[in-house]
Amino acid sequence: MESMDVLVVGNGGREHAIVMGLSRSQSVAGLHCAPGNAGTSLLATNHEVPATDVEGVVSLAHDLEVSLVVVGPEAPLVAGLADRLKEERIPCFGPHSEGAMLEGSKLHAKLLMDELGVPTGKFQVIRDKQSIEKSLENFQPPWVVKRDVLAGGKGVTVTTSRQEALNSMLSGIESDGFVLLEEHLSGEEASVLVIMDESGYVMLPPSQDHKRALDGDSGPNTGGMGAYAPAPIVTPSVLARTREEIVEPMHHHLRNGPTPYRGCLYVGLMIDEGGSPKVVEFNARLGDPEAQVTIPLFHSDFGEALMATASGRLNEIDVEFSQMHVSTVVLASEGYPGSAIIARPIEGWDARIEEGQVMGFCHLSGAIMGEDGRLSSSGGRVLSVTGIAPSLGQALDVSYQIIEGIKLEGSHFRKDIGFRAL
Ligand code: AMP
Ligand code: GLY
Repeated sequence: MESMDVLVVGNGGREHAIVMGLSRSQSVAGLHCAPGNAGTSLLATNHEVPATDVEGVVSLAHDLEVSLVVVGPEAPLVAGLADRLKEERIPCFGPHSEGAMLEGSKLHAKLLMDELGVPTGKFQVIRDKQSIEKSLENFQPPWVVKRDVLAGGKGVTVTTSRQEALNSMLSGIESDGFVLLEEHLSGEEASVLVIMDESGYVMLPPSQDHKRALDGDSGPNTGGMGAYAPAPIVTPSVLARTREEIVEPMHHHLRNGPTPYRGCLYVGLMIDEGGSPKVVEFNARLGDPEAQVTIPLFHSDFGEALMATASGRLNEIDVEFSQMHVSTVVLASEGYPGSAIIARPIEGWDARIEEGQVMGFCHLSGAIMGEDGRLSSSGGRVLSVTGIAPSLGQALDVSYQIIEGIKLEGSHFRKDIGFRAL
């Protein structure tokens, strides 16, 4: 296997997990990040180029002569980073801007699902402030109001309060010209990440994120408070239906476009009591924190899988996963998901557990390292503690053992990650 240099774009926990996965890959020789974070700086060279600076990333990739660019977050993909890298003939893991519109515009994704017959909730577009009262009658509460913008999972209101639904529709119409009102889907959520190119696709082990801030799935929506994989709610039969009813038609569509989709299609599912999967959302990238629990399950070379996808030859390689279980628990700053209090010192984050097949360590996200090597908080989600073990229970024990020893004033984490699977 040839060894390559790789540039990873982004600065979250997901990108730390990508860098960790690549650092364990025999196919990878050198690692760079733009801009990276305190965690990636331990394994890669960070460069002060913001992820959204498309031309800056393109010229950095040239200067470093990397063989592959892996794009973590959605914003640079929507802004056309993959399109520009294609023009420069630099392989990129992450779809072109049109493919990224599956995430960039919820309306676009809904219309495509309708066209392809992919199962999802009913929806209505509302532009006229006069019609909002009436449109609420078309749906049963709880009402789901979505703004058609990139909002990191926070542009969505799910509420049984008529007044709150009306308010969010009004403010959405005022700022964007329209909002989506969606049928509320009930059941259990799961994420299926699918890496794909025109030659084929591979469904990664299903995972489950915990989007609500508080235990028992209560409190406001967040970017994700913890995750685990594999998620047993995605039974073999749910997985087979997801493949047939969602992944196959999406892949058929995406491989046949003028420019094929080369990257990850994140399928956010709602699985009802009868085991029917419906799409809640698509994303054009690996999930955060789903990446932190999925990448450690790669048994075959992670870098090779990303490179094969970026060059349109995924069907030429075997992608294999281990039989382990992975959990990750997010440590959030005081105030998150509202305005987070940051710049506080963090201690105990560098604890590691390594006993036989059991491992535990931190993925860093909203944290920066001073010149003295000390870590302090810089964002809402500060870090997540990842455990890997032969069972989910053991993996969670490791995550909680480490997170309980971490000191960050005012911080909070969910105590019940994985509860649905235990
Ligand atoms: P989205 O940004 O579309 O993923 O929505 C964020 C979160 O809101 C999802 O992960 C769900 O928990 C919830 N949500 C979104 N749409 C629906 C829906 N139609 N029915 C029920 N819950 C939803
Ligand atoms: N964990 C949710 C997301 O990455 O969108």
